[in-house]
Amino acid sequence: MSVMNTEHEKLVHKLKDDSFHKEYEEKYHDYKVGFIPLVLGKFLVFAGDLIYGKEPSYGKFQAIEVIARVPYESWEMVSYLFLTALYSNEKRAINLTHTSRFGRMAQDNETMHVVVISKLAKEAKQTGLIRFYLIPLIFSLFYFIASTILYIVSRKSSLELNYMFESHAYEQYGQFIDENKEELKNKPVNSRFLDFYGRPCANQYEFFVSVRNDELIHRNESLERIKVPRA
Ligand SMILES: [Fe+2]
Ligand SMILES: [Fe+2]
Repeated sequence: MSVMNTEHEKLVHKLKDDSFHKEYEEKYHDYKVGFIPLVLGKFLVFAGDLIYGKEPSYGKFQAIEVIARVPYESWEMVSYLFLTALYSNEKRAINLTHTSRFGRMAQDNETMHVVVISKLAKEAKQTGLIRFYLIPLIFSLFYFIASTILYIVSRKSSLELNYMFESHAYEQYGQFIDENKEELKNKPVNSRFLDFYGRPCANQYEFFVSVRNDELIHRNESLERIKVPRA
């Protein structure tokens, strides 16, 4: 059994091509989010920079990835829950099922990130019970509640907030890859979970490039969901 989604993996592979990557990235590069997602998104980035520093690191990525799963978990739960009562309109049922599936797939992808990166953070000795374990865990509990309420009240705001979060993750991984390219090429990724997921990576450079591309897909897909109405 492997967890990965074939269509997603094809797109991750396609994004290795520079001109396709540029076109895909520019599609939503200048998107302007609404006031509420802007304020909440900026707060998330500010809090992350304050606790883990502005510069990307294994430890900071671990915290990002614990929190990154949460919006998808809330979207999957809410859309699946809605289907309990809202099943007679077939178009709406299809849209809700799509959102639920997308949420599940993205969660599995983020889970792979956090499992593998936490192993790399441990190897880099960037660990600690409060800063790297408890703070992201507690934060993600509150974020889950906020994301669920926001998704029910304003689906667009919730999707735009995730656009901001994923944009930040994409930029941080990009910076990390640019600054450590050669070093990462010489570092292995030994992870049973990565094999189980179904994404072979020869070294950490390949791994982080694929993770950066995952975040770009999540960023764009979040906005694509806005175009598809819930009902
Ligand atoms: Fe991620
Ligand atoms: Fe992501």
